[in-house]
Amino acid sequence: MDAETGKRAAGEAAAALVEDGMRVGLGTGTTARWFVLALVERAHAGLRVACVATSEATVRLAEELGIWLEPLDRRGIDIAVDGADAVDADLRLIKGGGGALVREKIVAAAARSFVVVVDDSKVCSALPGSVPVELVPFGVDRTLALLESTGGAYTLRTVNGAALLSDNSNLIADGHYESLDDPEGLAARLDAIPGLVGHGLFLGMTDLLLVGHPDGGVERRSPR
Ligand code: A5P
Repeated sequence: MDAETGKRAAGEAAAALVEDGMRVGLGTGTTARWFVLALVERAHAGLRVACVATSEATVRLAEELGIWLEPLDRRGIDIAVDGADAVDADLRLIKGGGGALVREKIVAAAARSFVVVVDDSKVCSALPGSVPVELVPFGVDRTLALLESTGGAYTLRTVNGAALLSDNSNLIADGHYESLDDPEGLAARLDAIPGLVGHGLFLGMTDLLLVGHPDGGVERRSPR
């Protein structure tokens, strides 16, 4: 319950940053949902926005709320707002708990401002060793072997006993490392693996972090 108050406060604070006429990236997950709900309220009050969704789940949410969605085009977007599974003092993120990491990263990278919304349980001194990845199904066993050569154990994510497919019809796997001492080094090694479409390390991307607390307060942090 307390976490929900923090998520809501952060989402609402992010919605207050959106200006008339902006192109807006809508994130995925329970915290981004509060942002979307608050943005809809502002749209009902007259704010004009064009929105891009980061997942099919967010497409469904937007459709339920009557939000007009557009494809991501060459212009990019003004602001993207999304949640995170973990964030450290350098505003480095782990994302992908919901399996939407590839579209989330494409939208975040396309935004002039990437705003991250979390409740305070997500803030950590060091990123945990859990790294979601999206993999092309072809040759996945070989890709898993290459992933494990980076020092983590990887398991394919399943739902009801079957491999989970991402919105891009790829596989999702979860990596487990004892610790993440060098996230940039690991990201570079992961980026070099051919069958890997994307990973949940979002490094050097956050422009603003909004941390919601159980009392409804919101702390703002910018990159150092
Ligand atoms: C979706 O793939 C994820 O990256 C989410 O943004 C992340 O898991 C945070 O979700 P919650 O806000 O629901 O914790």
